[in-house]
Amino acid sequence: MDEKEGYDFFTIKEINEESLTVKNTLKEKSKVEKIVSNIGNIDRICFVACGTSYHASIVGKYLIEDLIAIPTEVLIASEFKHSAKTLTKNTLSIFLSQSGETADTLKALKIANRFSKTLSIVNVENSSLAREADYNINTSAGSEIGIAATKSYLSQLICIYLFVAYLTKDKNEKNGIKEFNRIMDSLDNLQEFIEGILPKEEEIKEIAKKYKNAQNFFFLGRGLSYPTAMEGSLKLKEISYIHAEAYAGGEFRHGPIALIEKGVPVVVVIPKDEDYEDSLSILKEVKSIGGDVIAIASCNDTAIKSESDEVICLNEKIDPIISPLTYVVPLQLLAFHICLTKGLDPDNPKNLTKCVAND
Ligand code: G6P
Repeated sequence: MDEKEGYDFFTIKEINEESLTVKNTLKEKSKVEKIVSNIGNIDRICFVACGTSYHASIVGKYLIEDLIAIPTEVLIASEFKHSAKTLTKNTLSIFLSQSGETADTLKALKIANRFSKTLSIVNVENSSLAREADYNINTSAGSEIGIAATKSYLSQLICIYLFVAYLTKDKNEKNGIKEFNRIMDSLDNLQEFIEGILPKEEEIKEIAKKYKNAQNFFFLGRGLSYPTAMEGSLKLKEISYIHAEAYAGGEFRHGPIALIEKGVPVVVVIPKDEDYEDSLSILKEVKSIGGDVIAIASCNDTAIKSESDEVICLNEKIDPIISPLTYVVPLQLLAFHICLTKGLDPDNPKNLTKCVAND
């Protein structure tokens, strides 16, 4: 039986379990290696998922296209059937799902099984998606009770990183070994990094109090930080009922920036990666027109402090390649504490279910 073990809510218990999740999910290493070595020729990858699992899939697309240059797309499961005719036997369709029972994702898998190779990445062992795909990876996050996915997101991402690492080693002749070692070394340190982020809860609680009455929130990120921004925005919507939208930093200038006025909170996910300068530029622009900037940044980023209203800083030793695995944690905590300060129940948000098993 699942217990709260001293925590007031499952959601915060599960966020705190993320460090253990890292340890457990990394045990899937050899299974992932085996799948990659058996998968054969693939010239296209197609991720299919819903909700939070969709955001984890976008991280997969960025990594695969950058490191292995295999064309990769991410489809919303309920729209998948419209793309089914483009699948071939050398397409690998990857289905991500915490529950393994989401009706739209399962329906899409049944179609994809007819035309392409299929791999499911699920948290619930022996679920329909686990059973029906050609290959399956279990994310090993353990049972997740809070409706809003937290530790299961992290575990999905770890599986994607492992998959990409072995695929890179196999298929990237020039830099494969180097990138493989870079990802694996970073994953080896991930548990320690997560343990360093969790104590920031008190600091995040104060930020939550400041913005609990906001009507609108924006989340910006570029490259690997774009799906992190999307996931931060979804968490906030799901459990605090604040209207939130996420944009790729550059795209924000093409319309949505018109919505910024004095005091509108804008969360900018800004690790020190190749997109840093461009992200800083939009951050400064938002600030100059009155937005309140909450930056999620590296602790060695001294410039960011004078440009932002709030900074949640993360260990500078985090290699930007694993920023999605770390920078999302403060965003989960922020959504959780905004929810609490509004007197809402994070475990059971209205209108939502853990698994949408009917269509
Ligand atoms: C529901 C849940 C979301 C979840 C989505 C996909 O909408 O409320 O939190 O991300 O389903 O679920 P899955 O189990 O397929 O990952």
